[in-house]
Amino acid sequence: AAVGRGNYRHFMEKELHEHPAVLGDTLRQYLDPKTLEVRLPRLPFDPAKITRLTISACGSAFLAGMVGRYWIEQLARLPVDADVASEFRYRNPPLAEGGAAILISQSGETADNMAALRLLKDAGQHVLSVVNVPESSMARESHGALLTVAGPEIGVASTKAFTAQLAVLACLAIGFGRARRELSTLDEGRLAQTLLEVPSHAAAILEQDAQIRALAVEVAKARDVLFLGRGALYPIALEGALKLKEISYIHAEGYAAGEMKHGPIALIDSEVPVIALCPSGPLFEKTASNLQEAAARGGRVMAFTDAEGAAALSRFAERVIILPKVGEFSTPILYAIPVQLLAYHVAVLKGTDVDQPRNLAKSVTVE
Ligand code: G6P
Repeated sequence: AAVGRGNYRHFMEKELHEHPAVLGDTLRQYLDPKTLEVRLPRLPFDPAKITRLTISACGSAFLAGMVGRYWIEQLARLPVDADVASEFRYRNPPLAEGGAAILISQSGETADNMAALRLLKDAGQHVLSVVNVPESSMARESHGALLTVAGPEIGVASTKAFTAQLAVLACLAIGFGRARRELSTLDEGRLAQTLLEVPSHAAAILEQDAQIRALAVEVAKARDVLFLGRGALYPIALEGALKLKEISYIHAEGYAAGEMKHGPIALIDSEVPVIALCPSGPLFEKTASNLQEAAARGGRVMAFTDAEGAAALSRFAERVIILPKVGEFSTPILYAIPVQLLAYHVAVLKGTDVDQPRNLAKSVTVE
């Protein structure tokens, strides 16, 4: 049956509002809410026995892979290479015999990633795919597949499929950590609890629509926008910039907050919004000091943070959007939602074709 957009103006808006349900459905698939245990189906490789992991994907799915890399390295102490498929397939990287790879894709049909899959299999790698379409080529040809339970995604720019990919990768990181004896039962329970709170936090963030729309009014006037984040929020800064480019056609760059002084700081003036993902936590002070540098150069700092972070950032930020205080582990999933919502509102204000942006395709099946 055809998917409708109900009372929403665009599929993208509808799909953004499906975040709480999709995240709940996906997490329930891999996490037992009673025992707080991660339950993964049989994987094509033993995470305790591998020495390296390759991640390959395109577009937003690649950014999910970058977050996965931070999580898996941190929780499972397993070295991870994350690459865009179009580079991976021609890079001819040395791969250990019997090594492991994860491919991430909403459609499961993206040509470059399909080529990466075939190359990995030829090189004797054990390939697990994280896909949204169960009957897709990637799901069929991989040695194993974990499904995101996002339902059909019609908007060309990925939203709910992206956060669902993060939810699956979060469960994988915990599962790998346990298999490799890097996580105690206590740690696992604590991380699982953080993930179980994600759907309700996602709903609370969506209720801040009016505030995010007000921020969009400012951003829509800009010619260039800079997104900053650190650690696992660096890929989310990239996702914010990608989404804004894709649907509003405003030039945007995502940068690791600490790298700002090595280039983008030269662009900062009173015309450039600097959108920061800066929750309180271990990396807060570092990012806050980068933002202060931006403000000192006349930059217009607009920060997504929590109440604790807001106290410090309000001293120099032009705008602070206070999100719920969430467990550090889940910040990439939850902070992705307001940056996607921001891009959506900017695009609507600019009057672009939100669901079918020019020159882009939902599924890129040619190289
Ligand atoms: C296109 C879409 C993106 C998506 C990318 C990868 O560029 O516009 O939203 O992230 O393809 O697609 P996949 O289906 O492999 O996740």
